[in-house]
Amino acid sequence: MKFSLLAACLVHITLAVPSNQEKRDSTKPVVKGTPQVVGILADPSLNRDSCGSSLFGDRALWVCRDTQHYDSDGIPNLPIFTSSASWSDLVTGGGSQLTMYGDNQDNSFYPLVPGNCDDNQAGICSDGTRYPLWANAPPLVTSSDSSGTTTGYTWISNSHISGLSDLIQHPSAELINQAFWAENDIPFGTYGGVVQDDIVYIWGQATGGSVNLARVPVANVEDKSKYEFYVNGGWTTTQPELGDGAATMENASAGGQGTYYFSNHWKSFVWIGQASNSVSADFFITTSPAPEGPWTEPVKFYSGVNGNYSLGAYTLQANPALSLPDSNEIYLTYTKTDAVGDNVALYTTPLILVEWEI
Ligand SMILES: *[C@@H]1O[C@H](CO)[C@@H](O)[C@H](O)[C@H]1NC(C)=O
Ligand SMILES: *[C@@H]1O[C@H](CO)[C@@H](O)[C@H](O)[C@H]1NC(C)=O
Repeated sequence: MKFSLLAACLVHITLAVPSNQEKRDSTKPVVKGTPQVVGILADPSLNRDSCGSSLFGDRALWVCRDTQHYDSDGIPNLPIFTSSASWSDLVTGGGSQLTMYGDNQDNSFYPLVPGNCDDNQAGICSDGTRYPLWANAPPLVTSSDSSGTTTGYTWISNSHISGLSDLIQHPSAELINQAFWAENDIPFGTYGGVVQDDIVYIWGQATGGSVNLARVPVANVEDKSKYEFYVNGGWTTTQPELGDGAATMENASAGGQGTYYFSNHWKSFVWIGQASNSVSADFFITTSPAPEGPWTEPVKFYSGVNGNYSLGAYTLQANPALSLPDSNEIYLTYTKTDAVGDNVALYTTPLILVEWEI
């Protein structure tokens, strides 16, 4: 309810300054001033990485990867939960309270897959390998009705890892615990998604970096036969195979983890995230008038502080859920990893406000 009221207000603001519309050039985003670190987002009882946000009702739902509690000395302890979720309250006018809250009841938020070493909440197998079920993108909200029910979907690669190298080279993504894309399919949806005009657009990134796009009407999101795929500059119902160069989208990301969203202010699709193989908090942006492109060449627009642990900064995210629908700003987050004590990794989630010139 609160959210609809805010949206109604914004319509008024847009009408009051129609001339700005013509000046907005999303192909060359320019950062206004110096982005400020608003603070560190945290549930004080949890140490965890790779959080991403979605708008659920009038709050942000954050889903993060590996999660641990702290011992009495403030050192993360065992067991590990492969994911956890929290709420944060939004700030009127834009932004989020820094305190995340909610009770995960010591269970992974995304249920472990039956048969994949699911006798513990980390997905760790007796041979030391792991089914980590790490989502790269937060839930994609497909509907939010007036009765207060919000529905979202997440496609997660069902990876089987030893250390940090994949045992299955092209992991499958699963929907509600059923194999949705097969093991050697392009994992559409695991790289992010946008819902626009009742169409779900989902991107997949194959090993090697190529980015591919699929779409489906919101009502058919669970029906694989209704999906279309962007191949050779057009939409087809024939699912491209992994490595099909005709399905590769040029410049649709900088190659690493990030977030796709639609900017109402720019009337443009946006991707913000990390370069491939980077472990620095260097944020890149590319924009496009349509999900299919043409995407601009990704440019770096902000660098955050890196942590001093081996993987200093990763899971660079944009959080459109924290801003008013027509705002000319974006809140960034990333996982900053610092070494404390006896080489223990401590994860924090800085929240940064970026405002744009146009
Ligand atoms: C994509 O980026 C390349 C450079 O990496 C550039 O040459 C090309 O023009 C870009 N494509 C578009 C559509 O802007
Ligand atoms: C790494 O950063 C953390 C947090 O700022 C600090 O407590 C720790 O002393 C630093 N460790 C090293 C080796 O610089």
